[in-house]
Amino acid sequence: PSDAARDEAGRLVIGGRDAVSLAAEFGTPLYVVDEADARARAARIARAFDAAAASIGTSVTVYYAGKAFLSGAVVRWVTDEGLAVDVCTGGELAVALAAGADPARIGFHGNNKSLAEIERGVDAGVGAIVIDSEIEIERVADAAARAGRIQPVRLRVNSGVHASTHEFLATAHEDQKFGVPLDRAVELGARIRSHASLDFLGLHCHIGSQIFDAAGFAESAERLLGVHAELSKAAPVPELNLGGGFGIAYTSADEPEPIEQIAQGIAAAVANGCRVHDVPVPKLAFEPGRSIIGPAGVTLYTVGTIKPVPIDGGVRHYVSVDGGMSDNARTALYGAEYSARIASRVSDAAPALVRVAGKHCESGDIVVDAEYLPGDVAPGDLLAVPATGAYCWSLASNYNHVPRPPVVAVRDGVARIIVHGETEAQLLSRDAGLEASAGNDRA
Ligand code: LLP
Repeated sequence: PSDAARDEAGRLVIGGRDAVSLAAEFGTPLYVVDEADARARAARIARAFDAAAASIGTSVTVYYAGKAFLSGAVVRWVTDEGLAVDVCTGGELAVALAAGADPARIGFHGNNKSLAEIERGVDAGVGAIVIDSEIEIERVADAAARAGRIQPVRLRVNSGVHASTHEFLATAHEDQKFGVPLDRAVELGARIRSHASLDFLGLHCHIGSQIFDAAGFAESAERLLGVHAELSKAAPVPELNLGGGFGIAYTSADEPEPIEQIAQGIAAAVANGCRVHDVPVPKLAFEPGRSIIGPAGVTLYTVGTIKPVPIDGGVRHYVSVDGGMSDNARTALYGAEYSARIASRVSDAAPALVRVAGKHCESGDIVVDAEYLPGDVAPGDLLAVPATGAYCWSLASNYNHVPRPPVVAVRDGVARIIVHGETEAQLLSRDAGLEASAGNDRA
């Protein structure tokens, strides 16, 4: 939500509901998702890629990458907006299916899918299984043969391009666990084609996350198209999947290019690569996650303690909130940057530099490393941390026995829980050592 979205009392408004009433109704910490915003982003990204694909005479499937945040409601929003769904575990597959996603419009990833997961995918009739290693070719082929199905598959390659934010790195081989080396893709593609139970759709690659422009995708597309062209000599290769990774603004310093421009840049590179290698332009596929759900989420916290800590050359003000790395691990894990603002009121007090910390027993438990908040920030104030819709709930933990907060969707002034929060009693109920039979009668 922008700072403009405040009511007359100065309370931050999200999806037509003010933050104070949300906190009163659902408690804090609280994940809030603006449904209209998430839907609008999904629709805009789908439109951008549709237009870019059409401009080079092809079509596109846009998969929502569920790892960013998957729940029944979110599956329905994105499929309503015309997207397919990308999952990477049996658990994510189960959510997508239970929410009613069309199996034919599910893509199934994973570098170490179990045999049971592969069977579930095949039996469900997923539209594509992404083969991530040589070993998986026969695993998927056998599962499909046993089920009497012809399973459409993609082959994930490691293009040697790794991109993040405005830079990309291109090497012959990237040292990471996903995909097969590009220089083995022709051989492995042929091996996939040798199985009657597999239908080879084409190559896949994913070059990274939080990427701000088209350059890395373009480089990767050019590399893939060389191999795609080789594979096309034996039989047409219908598609090319370039993964996800489109970046968002976490702070005002982040300025990703508009998705329309990125989509056009990628399409231009694909068209050019196809000309160079003299192959027809394939169907395209993409897998954005963060760029759809990230900016639509905001986390609400209540300020607890405030502590001035003397440091070299001054003092740092630690503002501690009632959540932290259990609901947002990204700052601790990746040094991610966020912003924060007081959500419950406006203030004209002079800004003070603060660090927003969590409540966990760990000094790395920081939510926002550096932020200017009104100098009169006080215990009881509600803090909003925007852009927490992606990879926050999905990476949440119970560290220090802290229950995970609920996720609430707001739309047109109406709030509803889309994922229940946990209670302390639920956490304790999983502890077998606390069961009556477990030795408490040891006398
Ligand atoms: N497709 C594949 C094969 C992926 O591995 C990923 C993300 C995506 C699509 C979606 O990428 P997105 O559009 O959301 O950037 N936990 C990290 C991000 C890990 C991304 C893993 N793969 C974070 O919080 O930044």
